[in-house]
Amino acid sequence: MTKRLKCEFDEFVCDILNDEHFLETKKDLHHGTSKYEHSLRVAKLSYRLGRIFKADLRSVSRAGLLHDFFLGTRKDSPENSYLRHPVTAATNAQKYFNVSNLESEAIKTHMFHHVLIKKIFPFVNREEKASVKEFKPKSKEGWIICASDLLISVIECERFQFTYAFNVALLLLFNIILFKN
Ligand SMILES: [Fe+2]
Ligand SMILES: [Fe+2]
Repeated sequence: MTKRLKCEFDEFVCDILNDEHFLETKKDLHHGTSKYEHSLRVAKLSYRLGRIFKADLRSVSRAGLLHDFFLGTRKDSPENSYLRHPVTAATNAQKYFNVSNLESEAIKTHMFHHVLIKKIFPFVNREEKASVKEFKPKSKEGWIICASDLLISVIECERFQFTYAFNVALLLLFNIILFKN
């Protein structure tokens, strides 16, 4: 990122990066890194994609940074689960940073890729109900946050590629056995 772009990005998000509540996310592990680092990567990529697709740059930067703004892991409570943590993050983002409706909606729909995976592999995360209508991004900014989160997550999990490949193979096998009729 050039100096000029970095300055613009920093201006959009510096209040969040220095906020004591957001700094708490440094303590949480996420994809083998801290949630703070993960969120910053997603925000930077969202900003870059936002420039390419002529999106609202302030909104994609802030929604990218706040998309996982909840404390603890996804297994700690029902509100932090795979499909509920986006709503928790949006509520926190509203409470601490008064995000716009556009930003809030983009945060809420950032797990759309997980819904699609669930539709392809019904065996994944069976305890949660996934509605395409509810989770489908409703704006260009929403699609950008969703795509950035997926891309960054895959890159961060690179070191676990073998485990991932093994798990996907296992899931495929289970799905074939359980749903072949
Ligand atoms: Fe997330
Ligand atoms: Fe994320």
